[in-house]
Amino acid sequence: MAGNDSFTLSVAGRARSKVSPFYNPTLDNLSKEARDLFENYSGIDPDRVVSHVEEIRDRAWAIFPYPCIGLFRFVNLSLRTSPLYPSILSRLKDDKQTFLDLGCCLGTEIRQLVADGAPSENIYGTDLRPEFWELGYELFRDKGSLKASFLTGDVFDPFSELGKLDKKVDILHAGLFFHLFSYDQQIEVAKKIVKLMRPVKGSLLLGWQVGSLDVGVLQSSDGATILYRHDEESWAGLWREVGEQTGVKFVVESQLVEGARYFIRDGQPAEPWVEDPKRLMFSWENGAQRDLRLDNSQWRKDRKLHPSVMGTKWSDVILSPSLKDSIMSDITTFFDYEEMYTSLIPWKRGIILHGTPRRSSVETTEGDDKDKGVDKDETETLDEEKEVAKPISEYTNQHIKFHILRY
Ligand SMILES: C[S@@+](CC[C@H](N)C(=O)[O-])C[C@H]1O[C@@H](n2cnc3c(N)ncnc32)[C@H](O)[C@@H]1O
Repeated sequence: MAGNDSFTLSVAGRARSKVSPFYNPTLDNLSKEARDLFENYSGIDPDRVVSHVEEIRDRAWAIFPYPCIGLFRFVNLSLRTSPLYPSILSRLKDDKQTFLDLGCCLGTEIRQLVADGAPSENIYGTDLRPEFWELGYELFRDKGSLKASFLTGDVFDPFSELGKLDKKVDILHAGLFFHLFSYDQQIEVAKKIVKLMRPVKGSLLLGWQVGSLDVGVLQSSDGATILYRHDEESWAGLWREVGEQTGVKFVVESQLVEGARYFIRDGQPAEPWVEDPKRLMFSWENGAQRDLRLDNSQWRKDRKLHPSVMGTKWSDVILSPSLKDSIMSDITTFFDYEEMYTSLIPWKRGIILHGTPRRSSVETTEGDDKDKGVDKDETETLDEEKEVAKPISEYTNQHIKFHILRY
């Protein structure tokens, strides 16, 4: 199957012309974020940004006419809109984790991560077409500074240089990628991703693709196969199948989002399928649990809390130094002895820190129901510090500020 995606076989082959509905002659609505990236990361003169992007786009279109190129979607910066983005940045910056962008094309998402402070040494891009990556250096004018590595590879080729990253990737991004392939090929891609990911809890895949309630193969009016689209259920089903085949557990989250008329030029007549604007945003974590949240004395799973917890740093927790040191030591010791705790201690054992953004308090829970309150003196110190306390995340509300629970 080397090198073939459905698109190669159908639409793109017929669409290289600039009168294609997938080719927008001008870049009319560059987002503020993308403009910032070109002006501040690449140092391009504000008056030159649009013509610069248009010129590089034409060269990319000549390499291969994907709609994301013809319609300037490659400057859209979707990764940063994920609620997981703050935690991804912190994992790359603080924990020096490894990031791979699969089907990275010109490498736009990688540049955003680097502009936001992620060290580029631990970042990789891979694509079937290395010409796109080379052009990316011209687009972002960073050949001399970017330390991210590019690996040429057909994702279906078991002998490609991508194998270097087997079991080493902590976070993998796949933007507009899966839909290019048939269902069976998607299973193969998914298994390749499992092979690439570090085999530990918390390894993360995220991305997005064209989605639809009309699940399955999409054909154009002349019967050519174009894309294979999922909704949330079929996507979860695919990962269930991959889990059964690989023995790996995933927590899969996905959301079918209604978007703008996305894959066709404005004002262009098109086949009905391109009028279906849905996108499927997704993520999974290897063996991760959703965080539990305590509301009105009831535990419930909260999928939004997880990104908030993952994005939280110890430096965000404002406590008196002695109390903070002792909590940190409790928690790190707890996680260091995973095996022992798993075999000896009831599953409810854990450590929960909670409090409003401005008035922190701490409570530790051990065993079933034994709670330890906070020393009064410590709480008073916190009150004095409340002016400098800041909210940890947009997902935090009411009483839960910070939460760590180990099963
Ligand atoms: C539609 S583009 C998406 C680009 C980018 N990820 C984004 O979100 O804008 C798909 C990319 O996947 C690459 N690709 C297609 N088939 C591939 C394969 N078999 N192995 C690796 N990359 C492939 C293409 O060259 C192209 O750059």
